[in-house]
Amino acid sequence: MSQGAEQGLAGKRAVITGGASGIGAACAAALAEQGVKVRVADVNAEAAERVAAEIGGEAWVIDFTDTDAQAELSLDTDILINNAGIQHVSPIQDFDYAKYRRIMAIMLDSPFLLIRAALPGMYERGYGRVINISSVHGLRASPFKSAYVAAKHGLEGLSKVTALEGGPHGVTSNCVNPGYVRTPLVEKQIADQARVHGIPESDVVEKIMLTESAVKRLVEPAEVASLVTWLASPVAGMVNGASYTMDGGWTSR
Ligand SMILES: NC(=O)c1ccc[n+]([C@@H]2O[C@H](COP(=O)([O-])OP(=O)(O)OC[C@H]3O[C@@H](n4cnc5c(N)ncnc54)[C@H](O)[C@@H]3O)[C@@H](O)[C@H]2O)c1
Repeated sequence: MSQGAEQGLAGKRAVITGGASGIGAACAAALAEQGVKVRVADVNAEAAERVAAEIGGEAWVIDFTDTDAQAELSLDTDILINNAGIQHVSPIQDFDYAKYRRIMAIMLDSPFLLIRAALPGMYERGYGRVINISSVHGLRASPFKSAYVAAKHGLEGLSKVTALEGGPHGVTSNCVNPGYVRTPLVEKQIADQARVHGIPESDVVEKIMLTESAVKRLVEPAEVASLVTWLASPVAGMVNGASYTMDGGWTSR
């Protein structure tokens, strides 16, 4: 018996935003392994095509900062994974407003527009899974990440409202809240974290990223993908409006 048949995901369709890298690419691979037809939605055309080819899926090249282009969208999918994200590290008094708006567009406005576009089809079929890749920063704050923390806290609220509206139609919505995951997004912020905290780059992972986690290592993208795969499956039908931490104990503090 194939894994797909066991999890009841074979033949389902998924859209994964930011699916060309890191957590999104790991989710794309894990779902494809379960027999899901995956659309890798990403601004990086080359990487999206590559990941799609590797998993037998489809690339959807789109820039999620362009919210006007998503206003009339209709999305035919059983699973929507809102994952695309960027980071900008700066004290509030120096925080560039254009960068703030960009983070909000990709990480909060776009998930709203995509959920709005996907719900009618999910309601019609009586099945839907909205999975929002939030963060520990959807539940806790850190200095110098105002836009990111605000967007993720907003995403938590959006996910809960979607859960309440979708539940009667067989549509669940949940957040996944990882600590620091070994991806390009984290590698890119090491230099910035060193600068704003006034410490060497070599100290950033241990002194900044792992201080709160009781498990002293980064999360692996495949670990996040395994939780996402379970949330996408029919057995998780009563899990709704939840936020699942995967943070080595950070939020137990
Ligand atoms: N890496 C971590 O430590 C960590 C921890 C908690 C939550 N997260 C969240 O997980 C998600 C994925 O992060 P990651 O670490 O895998 O990042 P990543 O940088 O590896 O991948 C992000 C992907 O999003 C795409 N993307 C960025 N801007 C886009 C846009 N305007 N339009 C379309 N696509 C765009 C990128 O091209 C990239 O493929 C993000 O929402 C992030 O906030 C990451």
